[in-house]
Amino acid sequence: MRGDRPAATPDRHRRAHTSARDLERYAGLFARRTGVMRSSAMRDLMAITARPEVISLAGGLPDTSTFPPESFAAQMTRIAQESSAQALQYGPTEGFERTKECLREVMAAEGMNPDPEDIIVTTGGQQAIDLVCKTLLDPGDPVICEGPTYPGAVPVFCSYEADTHQVEMDEEGMRIDQLEAVLDRLEGDGRKPKFVYTVPSFQNPAGVSLSAERRRRLVEIARQREVLVVEDNPYGLLRFEGEELPPLYQLDGGDYVIYVGTFSKILSPGIRLGWCVAPPPVMEKVVLGKQAADLCTSTLTQYFVAEYFAEGRWRDYVDALVGIYRSRRDAMLDALDRYFPEQAQWTRPTGGLFVWATLPDYIDTGDLLAKALRDDVAFVPGAAAYVDGRGSSSMRLNFSGSDESEIREGVRRIGHVVGEQVALYETITGETPLPAASSASRPGAAGSEEGRGSGGDVLPLRRREDDR
Ligand SMILES: Cc1ncc(COP(=O)(O)O)c(C=O)c1O
Repeated sequence: MRGDRPAATPDRHRRAHTSARDLERYAGLFARRTGVMRSSAMRDLMAITARPEVISLAGGLPDTSTFPPESFAAQMTRIAQESSAQALQYGPTEGFERTKECLREVMAAEGMNPDPEDIIVTTGGQQAIDLVCKTLLDPGDPVICEGPTYPGAVPVFCSYEADTHQVEMDEEGMRIDQLEAVLDRLEGDGRKPKFVYTVPSFQNPAGVSLSAERRRRLVEIARQREVLVVEDNPYGLLRFEGEELPPLYQLDGGDYVIYVGTFSKILSPGIRLGWCVAPPPVMEKVVLGKQAADLCTSTLTQYFVAEYFAEGRWRDYVDALVGIYRSRRDAMLDALDRYFPEQAQWTRPTGGLFVWATLPDYIDTGDLLAKALRDDVAFVPGAAAYVDGRGSSSMRLNFSGSDESEIREGVRRIGHVVGEQVALYETITGETPLPAASSASRPGAAGSEEGRGSGGDVLPLRRREDDR
């Protein structure tokens, strides 16, 4: 919490300077899996970007200042007056029926109708991902996901020691032909993935959506090959324009698709309420995993959601958010056109919270971030969205957490440091580098499964000139 950090005590001070001997003592105690655990790039960045002078295009923060405080106060007051004892008590591990009714309304808005028995309310969508992995993964088990994938899923896959395979994306989302190639290759080795993890709508971090045709094909493949798909859908309702696309869960009916949802992006991430829908045998194990993890999801915030939904205006708030984020998306795309050099390219999302930008492959966005932070601006370096070192020339830019003028200024500052790197390269080499997309079209270039580890361009896209 900003400004709420306790003052440093002598004890804290000592702990911060742990001696080599201390480290050695603890090292012998750590579980093997801690060796492959990865830190969440966004969590790390949050500490830096909490400084008020920093313009952060790094977080995935919805703009909670748009939620009316009077409404929040009235709902919480009602809870205190009418249900204080219950709201302060433990609740069922699966979540309250009233909460399930609320999230079923959210799913119904995208054409889904899950059985309440197949639902568990979780501590955010993040816990749902963790519980699915806890339920399904043994060390070394293959998992397939998009490349780039949700940066918050990377530490989860690593914690459970998954063998993660990332499938390239384009403007229509995950390349299903490449997915089939990975499935074939695994099958050739006598292996099968435990699941395919995908964020089909307004993906975090790429901002693109899986096309209707590819959705149908993915569900068909799941059924034919009997492979589970985990559909993570925080952004489906945050559509700025274009036609609605059917969720995979709707197309499949819930046999092979495990669904993960959240109230974080349509209401508040602070309430930490998400959910998971899974076939009964999987759900049984997920519930056991949840019991071991935290017994139940916050009762208080489940009461809050029930009160809020009872007012019947949740769609109005989502519509208001869509309007706000659409203008911010426009501001970001304008600023990118204006301030980013010719050699860069980026996605043009029709919903969600993120733009994915790709720079020439001699630029490492991890190094670039250090320079950008000196100019008080932050983004998420692309490598955070990969398990294998790819993505190092890309970056994720968020447009929901800052207003239009901050977005313009933030992009201007990043564009400035990118421009410096491009100019430096041209001076040193005497050559004008090719635009970012070109490296992806080379055979075996990074971005294809074969190109693993070379750290270059990902998500091949149309050249910027073609978009105009
Ligand atoms: C794709 C995706 N999944 C899951 C989450 C986790 O959200 P939460 O735990 O707040 O529900 C996020 C948050 O940014 C996300 O983008």
